[in-house]
Amino acid sequence: MTLFSFRNSFYLFMFFLLFINLGYAKTIKHPSYKNGQCGACHTTKNAKSPDLKMDMPELCYSCHTNYENNDFIHGPVGAGACTLCHDPHKSENPKLLTTSTINDLCTSCHSDKGAMLNSGDNIHPPVQESCINCHDAHGQNHKFQLKADRKKDLCLTCHIDKKDAITNSKNKHGAIEMGDKCLGCHDPHSSTAPKLLKAEDSKTICLTCHSAPLPRDEDGKMLMNMGEHLAKNPNVHGPIMWGDCVACHDPHGSNNIRMLKEPFPEKSSAKFSADGYICFKCHESEKMTERFSKDITNFRNGDNNTHYLHVNQKRISCKSCHDYHASSLPHHLKDKTTYGVAKFKLRFEGTSTGGSCNPICHTRRYYDRVEPVNVKTNKKL
Ligand code: HEC
Ligand code: HEC
Ligand code: HEC
Ligand code: HEC
Ligand code: HEC
Ligand code: HEC
Ligand code: HEC
Ligand code: HEC
Ligand code: HEC
Ligand code: HEC
Ligand code: HEC
Repeated sequence: MTLFSFRNSFYLFMFFLLFINLGYAKTIKHPSYKNGQCGACHTTKNAKSPDLKMDMPELCYSCHTNYENNDFIHGPVGAGACTLCHDPHKSENPKLLTTSTINDLCTSCHSDKGAMLNSGDNIHPPVQESCINCHDAHGQNHKFQLKADRKKDLCLTCHIDKKDAITNSKNKHGAIEMGDKCLGCHDPHSSTAPKLLKAEDSKTICLTCHSAPLPRDEDGKMLMNMGEHLAKNPNVHGPIMWGDCVACHDPHGSNNIRMLKEPFPEKSSAKFSADGYICFKCHESEKMTERFSKDITNFRNGDNNTHYLHVNQKRISCKSCHDYHASSLPHHLKDKTTYGVAKFKLRFEGTSTGGSCNPICHTRRYYDRVEPVNVKTNKKL
């Protein structure tokens, strides 16, 4: 009981302290006002008349930096309306501001940005925190009074990891230096999509440029027209169906070929290793490592794993048989392919329990999961 009342009086005491604190919130005074130098701004020493001794903003500029020397001047500053944002005498807010937070101040005029902050969209954290993380309230030599060039430099002042990635990665993305640079894909304030993207998903953004044949910088060759390829081939690979090109590619560049997030063999033939293929982020690598299995893959002859045979034993990369963007055949199999310098057709024919191929590598050969086939004679075992 005694303990309880001790606690109670303790809480009461703490509450009292808090109350005192709120009652005496720190008031900040302009130094001249604080020192009673009313005449620093007014026509009379004790300011019996509130008349100012000079017009605004010249009055303020007689002691403060003249913001009009900037190339881009904020509307109200240019109009000399300092007192829309600052109380010239005293305020409870830092920098004599008229509102308690900077964002309240900015959105009191920029109501569209106020609506954005309350929209429930994904807001860029520095925007949520304070507009002046990027904008200068008065003026700057960069458009929109930004603290650095808006297209890229501004972003990289905070996103240092991205600066490293885009400058040091072996395979750089042309998009980073084109047009609006970072702002070509991202909105600096907010987005209904994840990662501040300007479109609903990455695919929509990628195809704004990749619906034309683009020059591949290092060797003068052209990149395939991905927009056209996807439109022509109805069997689109899962991640792309969901609009997710960045499941495999890093849009900011990477050390892997074609800016892939993980390695993938450049050539059509490669010694097998599970971490050499980005595919196993989503698919089971056992498809390629189990010599015999009744269920790990459908590409098998009875329990003889035909994936193991081709990929692991014969070192044939996925790209000789599959098109991981889109294809016209089932199982994302290619119609035409290349192996080394040879260009040829796979001539795949599927059945309900297997299939057969007739590429230049061998005569037509069959695989059947239920009734395995002798690969030499093509007869049922
Ligand atoms: C840093 C400059 C500055 C100093 C110093 C200053 N004032 Fe002012 N004062 C202003 C400005 C600017 C306005 C006009 C505000 C507006 O138009 O929104 C103003 C307005 C006034 C007004 C009329 C409006 C109001 O707020 O009631 C009075 C009265 C006044 N000041 C008294 C004083 C007194 C007294 C002092 C000294 C203790 C003083 N001022 C010191 C800049 C100053
Ligand atoms: C007689 C000189 C003088 C005049 C005129 C003057 N100021 Fe100041 N002001 C100062 C000094 C000195 C400081 C304190 C040092 C500093 O922050 O630059 C100050 C500080 C400030 C601050 C920062 C307060 C803080 O908390 O850091 C603001 C905002 C400000 N002044 C606004 C104004 C505005 C607006 C006007 C015009 C209405 C004005 N001043 C006119 C001398 C002046
Ligand atoms: C749109 C609102 C707005 C207007 C208009 C405005 N200011 Fe400010 N001012 C701010 C904000 C916000 C800050 C705080 C910046 C910070 O903390 O970096 C500030 C800071 C200041 C400071 C303190 C600078 C420092 O580095 O600490 C001074 C001095 C100042 N303003 C003077 C002026 C003068 C003079 C004018 C009119 C010519 C003016 N302001 C007009 C919003 C405004
Ligand atoms: C008193 C009203 C007012 C306040 C407060 C205010 N602004 Fe402004 N702002 C304006 C006006 C007016 C313009 C000029 C609009 C134009 O030129 O079309 C402007 C222009 C801008 C622009 C350039 C827009 C363009 O299209 O060129 C930016 C960026 C901006 N403000 C940011 C801010 C930030 C950040 C704050 C808070 C620190 C803020 N504003 C506070 C009134 C205000
Ligand atoms: C992370 C940096 C950043 C922050 C924080 C930020 N902005 Fe911006 N803002 C930008 C960039 C970059 C642009 C230029 C956009 C463009 O060119 O498409 C811009 C443009 C603007 C414009 C002019 C174009 C438009 O969208 O209307 C206004 C107004 C503006 N910002 C207001 C604000 C306000 C208000 C806040 C705080 C709620 C804020 N900004 C916070 C980076 C920022
Ligand atoms: C003032 C610092 C600052 C600036 C400037 C800045 N950012 Fe950010 N940004 C952050 C912080 C903090 C986060 C949240 C932590 C993180 O993801 O790194 C973030 C997150 C992001 C995200 C991830 C958002 C998500 O939903 O996961 C993207 C995309 C982004 N920023 C892009 C940009 C772009 C583009 C620019 C230039 C217009 C920019 N940033 C400028 C600080 C900044
Ligand atoms: C070609 C479009 C494109 C360009 C240009 C671009 N980005 Fe991105 N960015 C994206 C996509 C798509 C994502 C989502 C990546 C993911 O989910 O893996 C992203 C994600 C991010 C993230 C979140 C962290 C991450 O990697 O997932 C940041 C931060 C970011 N970008 C900053 C930047 C900066 C800074 C620039 C300019 C140097 C820039 N971006 C240029 C498309 C782009
Ligand atoms: C603003 C236009 C633009 C956008 C948007 C764009 N790209 Fe690119 N992309 C290019 C250009 C130009 C090249 C060729 C130059 C190069 O290799 O960087 C390229 C090259 C590529 C390459 C081949 C890289 C190499 O190593 O040869 C891949 C892969 C790629 N982009 C994927 C994407 C993905 C994924 C997206 C969406 C997140 C995307 N691009 C969005 C312009 C764009
Ligand atoms: C499942 C993983 C994956 C997804 C998802 C994916 N890609 Fe790729 N992409 C690859 C691989 C692997 C390569 C390398 C192909 C090669 O070298 O044979 C590649 C190559 C490319 C190339 C270069 C083609 C050329 O001509 O050399 C472009 C451009 C490209 N992808 C764009 C995209 C776009 C746009 C999307 C979304 C619509 C996308 N990718 C989605 C795996 C993927
Ligand atoms: C981000 C996850 C992801 C990555 C990475 C990925 N895939 Fe897929 N893959 C899927 C999904 C989901 C499906 C099922 C939907 C479909 O049929 O496209 C699928 C299906 C397939 C199929 C067809 C299955 C069938 O029988 O119809 C093949 C073949 C395939 N992937 C090959 C690849 C290859 C080759 C790679 C590496 C270049 C790869 N995948 C990388 C997610 C992924
Ligand atoms: C010699 C051609 C060939 C190569 C090389 C090849 N595949 Fe396949 N793959 C097939 C065939 C044929 C099927 C269809 C099996 C069926 O359903 O009848 C298939 C099916 C698949 C499937 C669907 C699920 C399954 O296992 O049946 C995935 C996923 C897959 N392959 C991934 C890969 C990956 C990843 C690589 C490279 C590491 C690869 N394939 C290499 C021919 C190949």
